Amino acid sequence: MLEKGQLSGRNKRRCLVNVFVLGLITILFVNKYWETGLSGIENGFQCQEFEPLLGRPSGEISRILESFQLQNETLSKLANAVRIRTEMYDYFPDPHDEPEYEGWKPFVELHERLASDFPLVWSRLAVEKVNEYALLLTWEGTEKDLKPAVFAAHMDVVPVEKKTWGMWEHEPFSGYWDGEFLWGRGSFDDKNMLIGVLQAVEYILREEPEFKPKRGIVIALGCDEESSGRYGAKYISSILLDRYGENGIYSIVDEGVNGVKNVEGVWIAAPGTGEKGFINVQFDVRTPGGHSSVPPDHTSIGISAEIIRDIENQAFPPRFTPENPVTQYYQCAAQYSETMDEGLRLDFLRAMEDEGSNHRALQHLINTGGRKTECLFKTTRAFDIINGGIKANALPESVSFLLNSRVSVESSVDETVSVFSNAALKIAKKYGLGYFMNDDVLVDATDKGSVNVTVERSLEPAPVSPDNEVWREFAGSIKGFYEKVVFPAKFQNSTTSLIVAPSIMTANTDTAHYWKLTKNIYRYQPGFAMEDTLSTIHSVNEHVDAETVMQVVAFYYNYIHLVNGQDF
Ligand SMILES: *[C@@H]1O[C@H](CO)[C@@H](O)[C@H](O)[C@H]1NC(C)=O
Ligand SMILES: *[C@@H]1O[C@H](CO)[C@@H](O)[C@H](O)[C@H]1NC(C)=O
Ligand SMILES: *[C@@H]1O[C@H](CO)[C@@H](O)[C@H](O)[C@H]1NC(C)=O
Ligand SMILES: [Zn+2]
Repeated sequence: MLEKGQLSGRNKRRCLVNVFVLGLITILFVNKYWETGLSGIENGFQCQEFEPLLGRPSGEISRILESFQLQNETLSKLANAVRIRTEMYDYFPDPHDEPEYEGWKPFVELHERLASDFPLVWSRLAVEKVNEYALLLTWEGTEKDLKPAVFAAHMDVVPVEKKTWGMWEHEPFSGYWDGEFLWGRGSFDDKNMLIGVLQAVEYILREEPEFKPKRGIVIALGCDEESSGRYGAKYISSILLDRYGENGIYSIVDEGVNGVKNVEGVWIAAPGTGEKGFINVQFDVRTPGGHSSVPPDHTSIGISAEIIRDIENQAFPPRFTPENPVTQYYQCAAQYSETMDEGLRLDFLRAMEDEGSNHRALQHLINTGGRKTECLFKTTRAFDIINGGIKANALPESVSFLLNSRVSVESSVDETVSVFSNAALKIAKKYGLGYFMNDDVLVDATDKGSVNVTVERSLEPAPVSPDNEVWREFAGSIKGFYEKVVFPAKFQNSTTSLIVAPSIMTANTDTAHYWKLTKNIYRYQPGFAMEDTLSTIHSVNEHVDAETVMQVVAFYYNYIHLVNGQDF
């Protein structure tokens, strides 16, 4: 744990490092290592520091965390929401075309449930249905020239596969409360955030009836986040764009990187300020059919295998760059760490000045964090679907396969697609096949066949939220909330401090539709959830702890007051 009093110890050590470097200068005189090493230490990384901010006195905020009655009320509302099976599948029709579609029914039920569980929100805010099943709630600000703050959450959940029902400790839509955890699909992702923001506003309306927001508060509730937000967030976005204009929103807070973690002995929170990009590429290999007794050396299946092998063998290397927000996260952890090996710590701090340091720092992250960490630093690709061939004695005439790729924040859709298409083109040439790319015929089909590559869907990496006043306020609100409210309660009046550093999401949220509304998008969810809880998201046994649920309520409560210019 990092105590405030220990800061001076760190400075002392930096002095020692400088003395050491001075020694090197005199002893070695001129030396390449000295050049890079010196500049690395002098100009090395400095973690950004934030003022801890509270929008209400800490006692008012901790009341939310400590009230058993409020916890009981909030958990009951969360359980109510979890019991409604708003499962989202990719094949759902647009509600605009088929509002009566069976799969949309639970959304109607959830709307009604929310309206009865949050009576003040529903009576005091303007509630709009967007494309039938998404919801947009607006609490008008009294000062019209202040841009509204948006709070996003989604009402849909990923489906529970029939064959996994039996594996759940408690039925997946039970909302069962065992005294420690609340169980069920959506309990964490994302009904926890949905109930959290609604409960924060309900609480303000009930407990602080005199409070009138100067800055508008907008709650944007998607209905198909788990299926890319094409029917929900997309429509919400165009309404908000019409209403408030480009960059007309102050900030957007959505689900994202979870809570506070202890990394190398340092408490650290890491809101996602970026998202990796997304690509689906469809490949279609056609060759002449015929009897399997007189085959060519390579069938369309063999040729497909070669394309797949070539693409799989061309890994995108992980990179540790300043363009990736998550780099700062690990550099901050290193800067404040009391437990990390000193040489490694310096490697992190001068990773941008020295190639060797950069390599060692990145390697350390990959060795200790595994694939999950590695994927934060590189473009990935995975072949996820393949179809081809119909009969044992017939040559396959057509093979199709789909590649899914997540694009690193430093790269782009075009750059990534070109790697895939070049690999396919090379194999097409090798076998004398035609080559089509996105409906362009680059090489005419031959009597031997063709390879057709189509980018079905793509999304650029999200623009990284900038370092500005809005970011410093958001980061400060996390720091204030944990240092002044949560930590003293959790660690008996400790002076534990918290580092806030940016990070990224490897998957996409509804915010992918919101880029034009504001540059200030923060994907963050408070709480202390552990890996054994987080690993159940989108899987069996999804559950959430009461502490996380109540921290979401209290955190939103604080931030809503903060963006209204209140400062305690
Ligand atoms: C809420 O309180 C009621 C009445 O005491 C109790 O039956 C219920 O189990 C509590 N629920 C939760 C989630 O704490
Ligand atoms: C290539 O595949 C796409 C998508 O499957 C299809 O729309 C297109 O017509 C195909 N192009 C050619 C030239 O066959
Ligand atoms: C923490 O400090 C506050 C006042 O500073 C005091 O009222 C409270 O009892 C203390 N709590 C603990 C657990 O020591
Ligand atoms: Zn989600």
